[in-house]
Amino acid sequence: MLYTSLWVHGDISYFSMMLSRLVSMLNPFPGMKHLDVAGGTGDVAFRILDGISSIKRRANQDPINDHLQEETQIHVCDINPNMLNVGRKRAIERGLGEDKSLKWVEGDAEALSFEDNTMDGYTIAFGIRNVTHIEKVLAEAYRVLKHGGRFLCLELSHVEVPVFKEL
Ligand SMILES: C[S@@+](CC[C@H](N)C(=O)[O-])C[C@H]1O[C@@H](n2cnc3c(N)ncnc32)[C@H](O)[C@@H]1O
Repeated sequence: MLYTSLWVHGDISYFSMMLSRLVSMLNPFPGMKHLDVAGGTGDVAFRILDGISSIKRRANQDPINDHLQEETQIHVCDINPNMLNVGRKRAIERGLGEDKSLKWVEGDAEALSFEDNTMDGYTIAFGIRNVTHIEKVLAEAYRVLKHGGRFLCLELSHVEVPVFKEL
């Protein structure tokens, strides 16, 4: 599996930096409803929760934000139950085992089980390369996102256009 060897032997700090950048562009907020697709490891979800916790700390845990924190929902969706188990285990190791904001959902990015127009954010990191029909994944992301919701896709690829190779 190409993915496994890349993940095991790749530059972990570089991947980590890219995931952090993804979450920073997402601009998470307390009370948000978010869907991280192909997210079984939990890496993106944990960063989103960290971001929300630091907002809460900055807001001095005011009661309004406390209430919103309760309503925060970060859905981690992955087609592979073993990957979800890895994520759940890592959540427990991080002390997030009882965190009600985290929801682990087995599902296919091409046919999501979520309602239309329900998510403030949608992320897919290093996942879109694995799907069979990218257009279905994009249609599903569009369907579940609220108007004005954020879609962020992080992927690695080869650059063919010379001008972009310089960047
Ligand atoms: C490279 S991993 C993603 C890692 C994770 N997003 C991260 O950044 O740490 C790719 C994931 O895509 C999942 N996947 C593959 N096809 C999928 C599909 N159609 N729907 C949902 N998840 C899928 C795999 O099970 C695997 O967990």
